[in-house]
Amino acid sequence: MIYDVIVVGGGIAGLMAAIEAKTSSNKVAVITKGNIFKSNSSLASGGINAVLDKNNTHEIKKHIDDTIKGGYGLSDKKSVSYMCNRAPNIIKKLLSYGVEFDKDENGEIAQRSFGGGVSKRTCYVGDKTGSAIMQVLIKQAKIVGVDFVANNFVMNVTKLKNKISGVVAIRRIDSSLMVYPAKSVILAGGGYAGIYRGHSTNAQDYTGDMLAIALRSGLNLKDMEFVQFHPTGMAKSSYLISEAARGEGGYLVNSDGERFVNELETRDIVARAILTQVNNGKKVYLDLRHLDKEHIETKLPSLYKAAYNQAGIDVTTELLEVTPVAHYSMGGIESKMTKTDIKGLFACGECAVNGIHGANRLGGNSLLEGAVFGELAGKKAKEYAKHKEFLPIDYNIVVKDQKVVDKIFDRDTSKNFNSMRISMGETMFKNAGIHRDYNSLIRAYDYIKYLRKEAGTLHCIDKGRNNNVELISILELKNALEVAEVVILSALEREESRGAHSRDDFTKTLKANEKSILVNELKKGYFQIWYEHKSALLNCIIKKIKN
Ligand code: FUM
Repeated sequence: MIYDVIVVGGGIAGLMAAIEAKTSSNKVAVITKGNIFKSNSSLASGGINAVLDKNNTHEIKKHIDDTIKGGYGLSDKKSVSYMCNRAPNIIKKLLSYGVEFDKDENGEIAQRSFGGGVSKRTCYVGDKTGSAIMQVLIKQAKIVGVDFVANNFVMNVTKLKNKISGVVAIRRIDSSLMVYPAKSVILAGGGYAGIYRGHSTNAQDYTGDMLAIALRSGLNLKDMEFVQFHPTGMAKSSYLISEAARGEGGYLVNSDGERFVNELETRDIVARAILTQVNNGKKVYLDLRHLDKEHIETKLPSLYKAAYNQAGIDVTTELLEVTPVAHYSMGGIESKMTKTDIKGLFACGECAVNGIHGANRLGGNSLLEGAVFGELAGKKAKEYAKHKEFLPIDYNIVVKDQKVVDKIFDRDTSKNFNSMRISMGETMFKNAGIHRDYNSLIRAYDYIKYLRKEAGTLHCIDKGRNNNVELISILELKNALEVAEVVILSALEREESRGAHSRDDFTKTLKANEKSILVNELKKGYFQIWYEHKSALLNCIIKKIKN
């Protein structure tokens, strides 16, 4: 099947892009590797930030300022201003598609406080905002005629003379390789917080696939050292306890019953404060006992149920133990207002860096960023495709990908991909987590390097090609390890602390380092790393990874 526009990924950014790209005369597809109802966007429960009145420049300026402050000097002012000014229209658009935001007593859209915001600007649907929006967007995409190509794992993009020509994917049903030609392609397949497996709110298949694809096609990754740890994962299960709980007045208390941090500080600060308590031998709990039962049941229904079902806790009368977990990745594919360095290839949502979050993201800004830049990517991809012909597919890429698949099937192994991905998560959390230093990062680097070599010898135990779960898991693991290596190298390179990147051996934030770190892979195992400024490439560091 050929398409004018292919969108890889079915979260909020991907669906907004697809809806915007679709016209009555073009063909648009959303390709997803799994279940479209289980994207990370559905998990962003607490809400979406927006000033509702587009003429309220005073409040919009505050939204811009909060976002820039939250980014610790690495956000791009133009992009942030675009996003915050676009926000009122995005809410209007979502309403017109059918999202039923909660209302206040005057019948206006209700807004709650979220960390790092000086005003209440987070619009919500109880504590299931993401999934409420996603259900509506899926319906809207179907109404306008977007094709859904599910259960296709995209391995690579194809290009000709630096112009996009399509994507190569594995069809899960029979493991056959599919080539989907397209005039323009949008990468919107999510971030890489899933590489902290076992310590992450992300679904287990958030393995940074888009970023690995970008690296292999010669693009730069940016800000990769910045991984957001959400302060409140449920200690029992890593389930996301929405920031809405604190926005609605919940406290954080330690085992002595003491509050120890302003609960509505930015997530980096709250997560580190919790870790300090834990390192001092204390447990940390979410305390909602002072709130009305009815208030909890109406504003935080998912949390209320999950606490009961997963931890046996009634939050109206009991404390719920929490712990910080990897939640969101600020780093991603370098893009300028969704454009990448490959013509016709666009990137948006969590897999892309469009200059919004910098070193730390504000809660409620991820759904907004996904919606705003998804919409923009859709518009740009549609325009680009309108004036272009289909380009021939570079079959060298297809042959290479086929060989990768065949090799995984053809040989035998006694090695287990599952234990490898669990130990990847443990290593990343322990050594490249909330706090890092040179020694811990080198430990992580050595182990990830070892795992990367081992992953090259992974093969399917089950040789049946129909719905083979192992094949995709092995490919995901390889992508995750490639991305993990870039996270560690970037974290080593940034010898300071900034936002979510906290180096115990370089605790200060340096004005001189107020720029992004970029990485590309010159060839497999050779990473080039440099600080973003014009002459930096001249003296950048080239790291060689021995495979
Ligand atoms: O805590 C939350 O509800 C998460 C929201 C977000 O990541 O923006």
